[in-house]
Amino acid sequence: MNSKIILTGDRPTGRLHLGHYVGSLRERVRLQDSGDYDKVYIMIADAQALTDNADNPEKVRRNILQVALDYLSVGLDPAKSTIFIQSTVSELCELSFYYMNLVTVSRLQRNPTVKTEIKMRNFEANIPVGFFTYPISQAADITAFDATTVPAGEDQEPMLEQAREIVRRFNHIYGPTLVEPEILLPSNNACLRLPGTDGKAKMSKSLGNCIYLSDSANEVSAKVKTMYTDPQHLRVSDPGNVEGNAVFTYLDAFSRPEHFAAFLPEYADLDELKAHYRRGGLGDVKVKKYLEAILQEELSPIRERRKEFEADIHGVYQMLKSGSEVAREKAADTLERVRHSMRIDYFTDSSWLNPEN
Ligand code: TRP
Repeated sequence: MNSKIILTGDRPTGRLHLGHYVGSLRERVRLQDSGDYDKVYIMIADAQALTDNADNPEKVRRNILQVALDYLSVGLDPAKSTIFIQSTVSELCELSFYYMNLVTVSRLQRNPTVKTEIKMRNFEANIPVGFFTYPISQAADITAFDATTVPAGEDQEPMLEQAREIVRRFNHIYGPTLVEPEILLPSNNACLRLPGTDGKAKMSKSLGNCIYLSDSANEVSAKVKTMYTDPQHLRVSDPGNVEGNAVFTYLDAFSRPEHFAAFLPEYADLDELKAHYRRGGLGDVKVKKYLEAILQEELSPIRERRKEFEADIHGVYQMLKSGSEVAREKAADTLERVRHSMRIDYFTDSSWLNPEN
């Protein structure tokens, strides 16, 4: 029972972007390839996506394939990771049903991520119950797979805290059964929350400030050219701000010393480039060209792999189908354990028939 298991996932409400990439995807591939984990489960969270898209199921349905292609193209490998669709694992609903009794309404109301999301969606008094309770269902996602490790962005921290509380409460009442998970955040600060190309706090489809993993080279180029920098940095000779400057935040997330040797050999590293920008005498165009070169280098193999998988949609379908079967078997085992601990496995253990027990 000391195995190390990863579970994480994404809502299929749109194609995945650079924010997802540096916040979680890149790390997942590294962990998958590290050999340090006994199992890796990657979930397309369609049921969670429906909690605030009940009236637009087509959007969720259409994006399942997009997210699967995003996964495969960044290098998640079905031979090493089980990729599956959440709603095919109906055991997750049953787990959620029992976990709901272990969480209070006021505890859910205090969840900071849920609070922000309610504001963002203008739900106010019209919060769907399913949406309000999705942290509970997310605890089911995690515990169904005995996950020890959940690589995710900072915004998922309250979800993990909630899951840990449910695990502790369950184990306290019914005896040791569930595994307490931990979040694994990106170590680089710039990766915790990559800003949008417009400099706003977060990449978000509704703000139109995303660079998608599936964007063409021309789209990436155009988006980098119009990126937000320092609005006070008007002439090349002006001193510029690096803080709050999206181009530099992206460089913090992507630039490595070898990129300088390859694309901008006048500078040894990012610190030198920043110092020059701060002093004045370094134009935005030059910095953006450097960022673009790095992004194209990172994204072009992803784009190429995507093309290969797009040419084999049937293979993608088969991969999701068998991944979902594997996931379902694991969740069914956990559910059996849960029912046993709760002593509601009536037809396995018939001791309830005897009034003495
Ligand atoms: N809430 C996650 C997101 O919005 C998606 C998700 C659903 C998830 N279930 C999960 C992430 C379990 C990690 C673990 O991106």
